[in-house]
Amino acid sequence: MSNTEYKFEGWAGFGPESIEGNLKFIEYEPKQFAEDDIDIKILYCGICASDVSTLSEGWGELKDMWPQVVGHEIVGEVVRVGSSPKNGIKKGDIVGVGAQCDSCLQCHYCNKDMENYCSNGMTGTYNGKFSRTSKGSKSYGGYANYWRGPSHFAIPIPKELDPAEAAPLLCGGGTVFSPLVQYGAGKEAKNVGIIGLGGLGHFGVSLATALGAEVTVISHSARKQKDAEDLGAKHFLITGDDEAKAFKGHERSLDLIICTSNAPDMNMSAYLSLLRPGGNFILVGVPETGKIADIPPMTLIFGNVHVGGSLIASPQTLKDMLQVVADQKVKSWIQKWPMSKVNEAVPSMIAGNARYRYVLVNEENGGNL
Ligand SMILES: NC(=O)c1ccc[n+]([C@@H]2O[C@H](COP(=O)([O-])OP(=O)(O)OC[C@H]3O[C@@H](n4cnc5c(N)ncnc54)[C@H](OP(=O)(O)O)[C@@H]3O)[C@@H](O)[C@H]2O)c1
Ligand SMILES: [Zn+2]
Ligand SMILES: [Zn+2]
Repeated sequence: MSNTEYKFEGWAGFGPESIEGNLKFIEYEPKQFAEDDIDIKILYCGICASDVSTLSEGWGELKDMWPQVVGHEIVGEVVRVGSSPKNGIKKGDIVGVGAQCDSCLQCHYCNKDMENYCSNGMTGTYNGKFSRTSKGSKSYGGYANYWRGPSHFAIPIPKELDPAEAAPLLCGGGTVFSPLVQYGAGKEAKNVGIIGLGGLGHFGVSLATALGAEVTVISHSARKQKDAEDLGAKHFLITGDDEAKAFKGHERSLDLIICTSNAPDMNMSAYLSLLRPGGNFILVGVPETGKIADIPPMTLIFGNVHVGGSLIASPQTLKDMLQVVADQKVKSWIQKWPMSKVNEAVPSMIAGNARYRYVLVNEENGGNL
């Protein structure tokens, strides 16, 4: 089908029930190979909560986008390059691909290393359609044997990094690193709060610490306190079911909050009370309700606080993050699953068992379990 000696095969969802252990192994047709594309033999792929919210249709119906091969924390070996590979990529290199696999590469934002905010729309690594080359072809993600796409979005993995540990950095790590840098973590934002200690949250703690910030973790329960401290957090706030009560005495203690939780019913006034004047509350978690809780205008006005959001990370930001991770020996806390057991791994991730990121290992391709 794909005109190569290998086949493009992966674990596909055919409907929302796929998250309950019903992904099916199928062969599919990737995009047509363009001269700036590469093919990757996939070794590792992290499981991100976005994979689940996409498959469950929690973020909206997929309609003609079924079947869906998700996974956007991909690391693998380059097995094919065209005549114009980007990022200095050669056959045999170990590279990673995150949540974005294409953009127009021409607009103002693409030219400013902000491809994730491309004015002509970004193509997601799955559940997307290519519009620059192979127009209209569907994108397929990393719960698979091979990946094909534009080399501009493939990031060389520094040799010092364990490729399995690098995989979840491509989405989970980058998504928190990007706003941490944008809002000055460790510089003007000395005190940083991370809401939710999951895949993104655990990177939020270690990366903010690596950038020189003093970190406070804000979590549902006391269960993860020791882990938060081991990751570098200096403070731990337990919300229970009454955030206002939990935050008494901690008002105006933070300069920046990164919210990785996708809880649907957060008491925003209480969270914003934690910020100093001028502080930023940046949402990266995406509640499936499609809205965030009400924010009283007076909370914003009297507090001089700002609420914003942030989408994944650009290729340049991913490179910068991998350098910080390599230089400062930041560890990813991962648990490996054979990719063949993806139908057990996804339900276990949904049950909240990951500490803190599950990584699927493609043993047939040489991934190490
Ligand atoms: N903006 C972006 O570009 C971007 C990129 C990637 C992912 N995301 C989104 O970011 C969110 C987090 O992803 P993740 O992979 O880190 O997920 P995760 O590993 O499941 O972690 C989410 C954490 O949120 C906390 N939480 C609080 N209330 C919750 C609730 N009702 N249900 C589930 N978790 C709750 C939990 O931490 P505690 O136990 O500590 O409270 C949990 O560990 C998801 O919504 C995902 O889709 C956004
Ligand atoms: Zn993701
Ligand atoms: Zn663009």
